[in-house]
Amino acid sequence: MKNLISHQKLPTEWSEREKLREKGQFWTPDWVAQAMVLYVIEDSNMVFDPAVGRGAFYSALRRINQQNQTSVKFYGSDIDAEILQEGEDEGLFEPDTCDIELRDFILDPPKRHFRSIVANPPYIRHHRLSTELKEVLKQISLKALGHTIDARAGLHVYFLIQALLLLERNGKLAFIMPADTCEGVFANKLWQWITRNYCLECVIAFTPKATPFPNVDTNAVVFLIKNTEPKERIIWVKVCEPENRDLSLFVQSKFGLRWADSLRILGRSLNEALRTGLSRDPSDGTMSEYTLFDFATVMRGIATGGNDFFFLTREESHKRAIPPEFLRLAIGRTRDVEGSYVDNETINRLDSRGRPTLLFAPDGWRIEEFPIEVQKYLREGESRGLPTKPLISSRKPWYKMEHREAPPIIFAYLGRRNARFVRNLAGVVPLTGFLCVYPRSKSQEYIERLWQVLQHQETTDNLKLVAKTYGSGAIKVEPRSLERLRLPAHLLNEYSLPVQGIMRGLEPKLWP
Ligand SMILES: C[S@@+](CC[C@H](N)C(=O)[O-])C[C@H]1O[C@@H](n2cnc3c(N)ncnc32)[C@H](O)[C@@H]1O
Repeated sequence: MKNLISHQKLPTEWSEREKLREKGQFWTPDWVAQAMVLYVIEDSNMVFDPAVGRGAFYSALRRINQQNQTSVKFYGSDIDAEILQEGEDEGLFEPDTCDIELRDFILDPPKRHFRSIVANPPYIRHHRLSTELKEVLKQISLKALGHTIDARAGLHVYFLIQALLLLERNGKLAFIMPADTCEGVFANKLWQWITRNYCLECVIAFTPKATPFPNVDTNAVVFLIKNTEPKERIIWVKVCEPENRDLSLFVQSKFGLRWADSLRILGRSLNEALRTGLSRDPSDGTMSEYTLFDFATVMRGIATGGNDFFFLTREESHKRAIPPEFLRLAIGRTRDVEGSYVDNETINRLDSRGRPTLLFAPDGWRIEEFPIEVQKYLREGESRGLPTKPLISSRKPWYKMEHREAPPIIFAYLGRRNARFVRNLAGVVPLTGFLCVYPRSKSQEYIERLWQVLQHQETTDNLKLVAKTYGSGAIKVEPRSLERLRLPAHLLNEYSLPVQGIMRGLEPKLWP
């Protein structure tokens, strides 16, 4: 192996590297790596992997070279000296067939173009990136797209942009990425740029059963992109069974194969796929024009910044004798709500199990102005270091709790069990595991009818069109995305919600 420790950039500090390993290092399984390499090697004599890790793509290439009696070379780089050294010590890399470099692909990309690029880039989310690095990422986006993309894009997104900039004309690229690449708020701008400048040939998605990363809650998607004129149609594949050869056979057939036991292979219009989301099944184009925003607004639940201190069990609140005017009924965890209702019985059950149900919610008075018991508890908070905790330190004073009216409908948005709407009959305020849904009218009848529509399977089926998806099949929905949830027109009619004459953004006529 050449240049292993030559292109010097010292190993990252141990704890940082551990973090990287935790967050950025998921190894691609053979059955997926093989299909990706098969795509890029056509008419090529060298494959480049900018994030080589333990060489999953190199191993796949070696196998393919053996089978096809070819000698396509490999060039890989990685930022982590130790992982490369481990690979070398274990004899993973054969010096004659590969060139591996210690190199940061973002800060110091190779100064040449490539015919074949394959990668499983580090999945490092934006809040773990330093300010300096974010500045470099901004420049990459400006250079490629002509503008910046939303700061919530993770490092993997910039790996893709940077790699596309290094792709030769007619060259091919295969990237395996988390689904947020096409579901995040930045996705629209990113894919507009890609699909106007490159040919997105094929997108490969996976069912939860076939996920390439079974131990990581990431929904992976593979993008196969060629540097030629864009086309109006793409091939879209859903892999339904893991660990089998169909995916490789399909890629080897140059997408000619249209049926395989473990694959669902579809042709899609690029426009529809971009509109629906590349990671999502096609939509049939009969989507209702009405969204939840026509009938309600959505806000996230309360972020306390320190549930240990602010979210109390009933017993604890009694023990500390906190007066009721400083406490609000609240729910914290998705699994504390079974089924579709939160009512007094739910609260009693949680109380009897010793689960917290009371939000300590002081307002902005000075500490001395509170009753003595509250003063004592706040002082205890100070001695526990609460005022310096991240979110809390931005509040003035530190204990002044966010305010939310109790929403009539709550949305449980993250969890392994199905995301769902919950009717709030107990007047609780939800914490951040939930979203608050405020119908545009306070009329009980209006709320009940909207609730019926939201309960309907046809409505909840549409959640996948606005949600972020995870490997286990769990979904997460942001407040603005939930407002875009499509409500089927015939259900709105059936439940007599006033669909006629709705002006978007304005309060609909109250029912009836
Ligand atoms: C998800 S792993 C993939 C490794 C391997 N290609 C595979 O698929 O199994 C991503 C790799 O990117 C490396 N990496 C992280 N940041 C990098 C950077 N800025 N430049 C190059 N490699 C980086 C990590 O050390 C890690 O080995």
